[in-house]
Amino acid sequence: MPENVLRVTDLHKIYAGGVHAVRGVSFEVNEGESVAIIGPSGGGKSTVLRCINRLIEPTEGVVRLRGERINTPGADVNDVRSRIGMVFQSFELFAHLKVLDNVTLGLRHVRKMSKEEAKERALSVLERVDLLDRIDAYPGNLSGGQKQRVAIARALAMSPEVMLFDEPTSALDPELMGSVLATIRRLADEGMTMVIVTHEISFAEDVADRIIYLDEGVIAEQGPSSIIEDPQSERLKRFLSAISEGEEYQ
Ligand SMILES: Nc1ncnc2c1ncn2[C@@H]1O[C@H](COP(=O)(O)OP(=O)(O)O)[C@@H](O)[C@H]1O
Ligand SMILES: [Mg+2]
Repeated sequence: MPENVLRVTDLHKIYAGGVHAVRGVSFEVNEGESVAIIGPSGGGKSTVLRCINRLIEPTEGVVRLRGERINTPGADVNDVRSRIGMVFQSFELFAHLKVLDNVTLGLRHVRKMSKEEAKERALSVLERVDLLDRIDAYPGNLSGGQKQRVAIARALAMSPEVMLFDEPTSALDPELMGSVLATIRRLADEGMTMVIVTHEISFAEDVADRIIYLDEGVIAEQGPSSIIEDPQSERLKRFLSAISEGEEYQ
């Protein structure tokens, strides 16, 4: 039996304004698995990821990391965030810090590594995202694809047990998406456990062991990547055909 890394049970989120964004979502991610979450904008994908690493608190439901409940006041938020790597659409790098320092920051302050140790670790992850030649650059001088790879390196440096990606290529020009998708794909191939929210359906189909289709706050369909070719629910059928019609007009 593969070991369970993440287990989300009956998650609900009602925002302060009354929007019931997530309505009873349950799923599991096992060691080494990559799970893609797809679905229309506003369907609750980001809300689910943000509840998992406690950027927001769910209204109801349980999130477990290796069996341990993490959405409870007793669980240390910083510990949770260092065990769950998160990569956002908008990179969230520190503009005033060089690439190397963006990556060493968490290692120094959260992992309490020495300067030398942190640098060594940062260089090894920057090599994995193919950025060793840009360690002294500031984020402002990098392409969007390079910035996103720095963000991935920063998350990887903490040796997370699972990585969450929230539309990692949505802010990128099409010609810059490839290097980021290739990086994520490599991590998946290396056995990193991950949850990827993406609009890139063919990427999801290619990289994910399992696909979750989230619509109006519920999992309307989930299954192996073959559900893209052979969707069962009307909602997923409609979503996929709307996307492919959109592509025809591009
Ligand atoms: N901070 C917030 N306050 C109130 N409503 C929000 C907030 N964030 C998201 N929502 C609403 O929750 C729903 C789900 O949003 P989101 O999780 O961002 O969906 P997705 O990532 O699938 O596009 C949407 O109706 C959105 O407007
Ligand atoms: Mg979103």
